Amino acid sequence: MEKLTKSDKKTDKFLNIKTTGTRNNKDKHHFRYEATPYSDLYLLFQKVTLNESDHFVDFGSGRGRVCFYVHHLFNCYTYGIEINLSTYHEALLNLESYSVKHDSNDKIQFLMEYAENYEIKEFQNVFFFFNPFTVQIFKKVIYNIIESVNKHPREITIILTYPILDYVSFILQETDFVVVDYIEFNHINKDRNKFIILQNL
Ligand SMILES: C[S@@+](CC[C@H](N)C(=O)[O-])C[C@H]1O[C@@H](n2cnc3c(N)ncnc32)[C@H](O)[C@@H]1O
Repeated sequence: MEKLTKSDKKTDKFLNIKTTGTRNNKDKHHFRYEATPYSDLYLLFQKVTLNESDHFVDFGSGRGRVCFYVHHLFNCYTYGIEINLSTYHEALLNLESYSVKHDSNDKIQFLMEYAENYEIKEFQNVFFFFNPFTVQIFKKVIYNIIESVNKHPREITIILTYPILDYVSFILQETDFVVVDYIEFNHINKDRNKFIILQNL
């Protein structure tokens, strides 16, 4: 991970993007913008390795931090789905500035769309969630993924970041996804996880 640091400001600077800060959404079903800390992305992608041919989707992608980071590390295809208009525009500005310093190879896309209405593409295989919305919407998105897999069978990885208990209970009790790895919050707080990684083995 040459030149990528664990500091949010320094890594934004290196990637030539602006992803720090927060933005509240008016709708109570859609949670606010806040980026996953780079220090946690660093930990996650020590464990999870992607290939150039993988297609990674961030549901509730905000200003695009995770998509840029993943693209930079693995040169895979990345898709950011975001519903807040201002935040979506910031992601597009970031795509312009990222492309000045780094070759995006037309492999990064942002779409302004409700995650629950997004049609999963048959080649998309890694799905990332950092608590973007309520569990009711999360269920719809997961069922869309399952429907896509039923039509086009393939191996799927789901990454849950700081998952709320409702997400975890639902996915473990109501679907066939199984936990293949996780990263604990810290040694004291063993009940919570920074990341849970699931697959349809
Ligand atoms: C906690 S932020 C996560 C940002 C990014 N994924 C990251 O980890 O750095 C959640 C984002 O989801 C967006 N969001 C909330 N509900 C959404 C929905 N139904 N469809 C798409 N995006 C949504 C919010 O506007 C916000 O930008």
